[in-house]
Amino acid sequence: MLPLLALAASTAAPAKDVFINTPRTTLMLSVNEGETPRIHYYGTRLRPGQAREVYDAMSINYDAYPAFGRDSFDETALSVTHADGNMSTELAVTGMRTEGDVTIISMKDKKYDFFVDLCYKAGAASDVIETWSVLRNGEKKAVRLEQYASGVVAVRQEGAWLTHFHGNWGQEAQMTEEPLTPGLKTIVSHDGVRTAMGERAEVMLSLDGRPAENSGRVIGAALCWTGNYKLRIDTRGKHCHTLVAGIDDLHTAYTLRPGETFTTPELAMTYSTEGKGGVSRAFHRWGRAGKLHNGRALREILLNSWEGVYMNVNQPVCEQLMDGLKELGGELFVVDDGWFGRKYRRTYDDKALGDWVTDTEKLPDGIPALVRAAEARGLKFGIWIEPEMVNTTSELYEQHPDWVVAHPTRELSKGRGGTQLVLDMSNPKVQDFVVGIVDGLVRENPTLHYIKWDCNMSMQNFGSSYLTADRQSHLFVDYHLGLRKALERIRAAHPSLVIQLCASGGGRVNWGFMPYFDEFWVSDNTDAQQRLFIQWGTSHFFPPMAMAQHVSASPNHQTGRVIPLKFRFDVAMTGRLGMEMKPSDLSDDERSYAKRAMAFYKEIRPVVQLGDQYRLVSPYDGNGFCSEMFVSEDKSEAVFFCYKFQNYVGLDAPRWHMAGLDPDASYRLEEFGSTERQHFFEGKSFAGSFLMETGIDAPLSGQFASRVIRLRRQ
Ligand code: DGJ
Repeated sequence: MLPLLALAASTAAPAKDVFINTPRTTLMLSVNEGETPRIHYYGTRLRPGQAREVYDAMSINYDAYPAFGRDSFDETALSVTHADGNMSTELAVTGMRTEGDVTIISMKDKKYDFFVDLCYKAGAASDVIETWSVLRNGEKKAVRLEQYASGVVAVRQEGAWLTHFHGNWGQEAQMTEEPLTPGLKTIVSHDGVRTAMGERAEVMLSLDGRPAENSGRVIGAALCWTGNYKLRIDTRGKHCHTLVAGIDDLHTAYTLRPGETFTTPELAMTYSTEGKGGVSRAFHRWGRAGKLHNGRALREILLNSWEGVYMNVNQPVCEQLMDGLKELGGELFVVDDGWFGRKYRRTYDDKALGDWVTDTEKLPDGIPALVRAAEARGLKFGIWIEPEMVNTTSELYEQHPDWVVAHPTRELSKGRGGTQLVLDMSNPKVQDFVVGIVDGLVRENPTLHYIKWDCNMSMQNFGSSYLTADRQSHLFVDYHLGLRKALERIRAAHPSLVIQLCASGGGRVNWGFMPYFDEFWVSDNTDAQQRLFIQWGTSHFFPPMAMAQHVSASPNHQTGRVIPLKFRFDVAMTGRLGMEMKPSDLSDDERSYAKRAMAFYKEIRPVVQLGDQYRLVSPYDGNGFCSEMFVSEDKSEAVFFCYKFQNYVGLDAPRWHMAGLDPDASYRLEEFGSTERQHFFEGKSFAGSFLMETGIDAPLSGQFASRVIRLRRQ
């Protein structure tokens, strides 16, 4: 008999019908001893007893963890070569239990001692369900995992659409929305190191046709894995869609010795009837509730030295940047690339990665002097590192040439600067080295507040001097398990250090990283117009509080575009605000505006960073407008942003319809920093329902016009 009674407490449905419940959703499975578990429903939370309706309505009936080898005509999650060479697996349920908020369905191959625990985690804090599997080899000899995905989402609905994100350096998170048609759609990362440098591991399935921001049924799914992944969306006929998501199965066969286990990364999913925005808000809340490191703390306004001075950092230059930041009201100064190297100095990007000692020609009194200078101005201090990388022109490479990812027989393919290589994180000595970089910086500078952790190369050479010949195919996975071990050690030792995730911009934006990082650099492209698109895409799955958005110089360094300071601030203020320029390059008028803008941001920061985001008018609509807003959890405060980034005669701003407000409350509207003519709404009060249904008129004139309107409940 199955030990199903433990579950009966959480559902009054017949024991074999398992409800994985969040406050507003249910994933329903059937779990019967001797059979494979099946998915039957994912949607709005079911009442006890509604399982019968699911069956009577002929809903989905799909393997919860399909294995290859028997009746496996569709996409599979698991494929194993057993110790005797048999490539087929047939899983059957042996039991089920709950541990805290995790439901664990135990399975075993019908003939072999190969075990799978299929896990579902669903808490009360958010509507996100996480699923993963634990694979255990109980056979007498090694087995080979050929495919070991995390989980499955199954949907039965004709006319469904897919939203996904792709891009490259400087154009991350570009959104594509398309109907799902029969066939297989595959989304992969083969970078090896920078998991989001290209396509992203997050998708939405809109079940009511063309995706809408604030209406319609939408499922969102995100694979939480820092390495290569594959999402397969298989559409059979017009109405059966299956998403199988997991670690990429190419060149990643993984051997389990007898007794060894492998735990797959989590696939996080949510369901909303409030459109894509509902999915986003669920993911944002899940992040703030724990998946994001330190997700409840407000993030500071910082100035990062990169676009201001690039590698030309030195004491006076940094102090000048600090003075500028201090005058504007900033809170944290970060010295970017260029501060290190002894034998080989980091004057250009072709040397010194790996040699994390101060370049005393640039900074004669070392980093402690920079920390003191920052603190004397009331600023906190942060520093850039790229710990997983090395240049061949470095002392580290001279000492440890075998620490790099490469095969010793091959000529090296080098990255940035023509000399960059990736360190082999599967090697415990390299893990110790990486942990030691952070420990060393904190030891030398006990008040160090922030680290920018960069990563600017893909795995261009395949091979590990650490892994044995028969385990070379573990590299793509063991690199990331090693990285995770290092990050866990760093977090155990330095829980309150703020760490930014950066990878040539947003090349690593993935939930697999976020338990260790407080925020991420959204893109090296700081052009405010392009940022509207990049940030729009990124916010679909990632909370604005974690999105580093910096005001940079005009003309912009990446595009040459000239954009007014107000517009640049208004775009940057929808996430974690910062600066990426020399404040001294601003005119007096601009500096005084920047000062007011930072003070204003501090006032709205709790709403932007801890509130709910509502995307309203999409820049992808092609009309040259964009708008979004943020509403505090108790709905007492909100901030509305709108932008115009195209210009031609007759291009009139749309009527702005707000969202997320309390319909019965009255809100007073107050605009910040407008260069537009003051409008009728200024200082007036409106019902939440009126602002959402009828909306307001707020014209925008010229190109790069924007408005920020603060709403306070009366
Ligand atoms: C790439 C990052 O994305 C930039 O912000 C900057 O830190 C450079 N690396 C420094 O080399």
